[in-house]
Amino acid sequence: METRTVGVLGAGTMGHGIAQVLIRSGYTVYLYDLSQQFLDAGAGRIAKGLNRDVEKARMTAEEREHALSRLKITTQVADLGRADFIVEAVTENLEVKAGVFGVLEPHCRPEAIFASNTSSISITRLAATTQRPERFIGLHFFNPVPVMKLVEVVPGLTTSSGTVEAAERLAISAGKTPVRVNDSPGFVSNRLLMPMINEAVYCLMESVADAKGIDDVMKLGMNHPMGPLELADLIGLDVCLDIMKVLYEGFRDSKYRPCPLLEKMVNAGRLGRKTGRGFYEYAT
Ligand code: 3HC
Repeated sequence: METRTVGVLGAGTMGHGIAQVLIRSGYTVYLYDLSQQFLDAGAGRIAKGLNRDVEKARMTAEEREHALSRLKITTQVADLGRADFIVEAVTENLEVKAGVFGVLEPHCRPEAIFASNTSSISITRLAATTQRPERFIGLHFFNPVPVMKLVEVVPGLTTSSGTVEAAERLAISAGKTPVRVNDSPGFVSNRLLMPMINEAVYCLMESVADAKGIDDVMKLGMNHPMGPLELADLIGLDVCLDIMKVLYEGFRDSKYRPCPLLEKMVNAGRLGRKTGRGFYEYAT
């Protein structure tokens, strides 16, 4: 089945970015969220992103208008019944994700494919909460979505080969490079990235260097575009902590224990850019 219409669940950082690249690539996108306020904010960020593309001559004003006309924002989950392919990007919590799929599924065609943008939750487990485990897959985008080339494509135990191929086609047509990765805690990306971030927080906690010093080491010595603490602020410290917990519980190995300072920062509500303060302070 050819994918023409995509439903995106969640208009937050990842959801709005995914919707943006898809409308830009010719798909009609139904972007769903619980509140009109979240949707308006997401649609505003998409418009801003496309304006930037026009300013930079990556698209014409006419192409931007066509792309924006393909974006349908909705608080009615039933509207996503028109989609051939659903990408879920809601809160990183198994119960929340399963709950959203449960509400959505009765409205969807049986042949529609469900994908989760989870950063670490087992695809096999999520698939088993739906009535279509063979048409369920992980499609893991990276922040900021319009800029980052990678999509991890994560088949679960029950995912059919047709579903994998459809997911890879979608990623490629959205200008991304899919990399197939098996269903294992943190996949490849976060199994490598999060322990590095966690170790950077240990360095800070133990006063090995200050935050800027730690970030400078990785930027200037390893050519990383951002230091690990800056990156943690971009991702969200709550997200980093949740992923460390998934790794720790998934592998039952103490090397993945979350740093106590990371837990303390999350408890204090210092979640990074989104709250105006994490390892650094941001103008809100
Ligand atoms: N949203 C959209 N576009 C953005 C952006 C954002 N949040 N931040 C930067 N950009 C765009 C800029 O507009 C600019 O585009 P332009 O061509 O229109 O000028 C381009 O990116 C480059 O930006 P800048 O020149 O301002 O800054 P940099 O060259 O430093 O690039 C960066 C910014 C792309 C964010 C770069 O620092 C970077 O690649 N950082 C690492 C990001 C990363 O590792 N992401 C993965 C996070 S892990 C993840 O998402 C997985 C999850 O499971 C946790």
